Amino acid sequence: MSIHIELERRIAQFKHTEACVVFQSGFAANAGTVSAILTPEDHIISDALNHASIIDGCRLSRAKIHVFAHRDTAAAGKILDDLAGASGRKLLITDGVFSMDGDIGPLPSLVEIAESHGAIMMIDDAHSSGVLGRNGRGTVDHFGLHGRVDIQVGTLSKAVGVLGGYVCGSRDLIEFLYHRARPFLFSTSHPPGVAAACLAAFEILENEPERIEKLWDNTRYFKAALNNAGFDTGQSETPITPIMVGEAKMAHAFSAALFENGLFATGIGFPTVPEGKARVRTIVTATHTRELLDRAAEILTRVAKKMGVLREN
Ligand SMILES: Cc1ncc(COP(=O)(O)O)c(C=O)c1O
Repeated sequence: MSIHIELERRIAQFKHTEACVVFQSGFAANAGTVSAILTPEDHIISDALNHASIIDGCRLSRAKIHVFAHRDTAAAGKILDDLAGASGRKLLITDGVFSMDGDIGPLPSLVEIAESHGAIMMIDDAHSSGVLGRNGRGTVDHFGLHGRVDIQVGTLSKAVGVLGGYVCGSRDLIEFLYHRARPFLFSTSHPPGVAAACLAAFEILENEPERIEKLWDNTRYFKAALNNAGFDTGQSETPITPIMVGEAKMAHAFSAALFENGLFATGIGFPTVPEGKARVRTIVTATHTRELLDRAAEILTRVAKKMGVLREN
């Protein structure tokens, strides 16, 4: 059996879905899937902070796009109520974990809304794979929504530590994508070594859950250190922990000064995040030691005080 088919079989089993298709990246998985399954007659109901790959997939599909305010389930429900008599299919789509803020999508209520309105439910678990749920199975497992989410996308490029993206769902959906998702059809797949590295990562996820415990332990420790120092870490609930700075110029200058002091943390400004909400994004891993986290918090605090990001006490 080809190692690619073995990887797809393994991911489907891990996610408790009928089938899986692996793309070259998470970006290709989102954009290729949304653009393949919808037509200009259809409707997409999409969270305002969904990832760029979802937005591009929506645009490529030429379906009608309805954006709801971030995590506002009532607004999503209202859009679907208003579309009740409209023809075409409806796709309700959200990130599982939002990449810039580290907050978790309100999946239980979104899934209910999708079910009551007959909408297709799709989740992008790029930042939840390997992080949330048993053994890092993602948000569907975290919330116990098995069998109620039609399409689960994930990336192999983040916590899994390799490269690629996957789509899990029904056998019919995956067969359809094999024949209609353009990045799958018209672009070369991973070399076997990449697929083998992904398989090895799933082996680790299944057999070494203590790594995920360590990740969460580190996350709690580092967030507490940042909050005690007085940083604003926004709405983060996961290892992605932004340090809100405000203006993009300041975020980039802060990031550069951190780097000079021995800490790598990227500055992010408009258009990646809304204007006035620039930040430095920090992410801890399972392999950070307490000493490294203490050192990072110390550098952040010292540099932030010097630059006026934090007030001197
Ligand atoms: C929420 C989200 N979805 C999808 C992607 C794309 O994943 P990949 O880097 O594997 O293309 C990213 C990565 O930047 C992401 O943050």
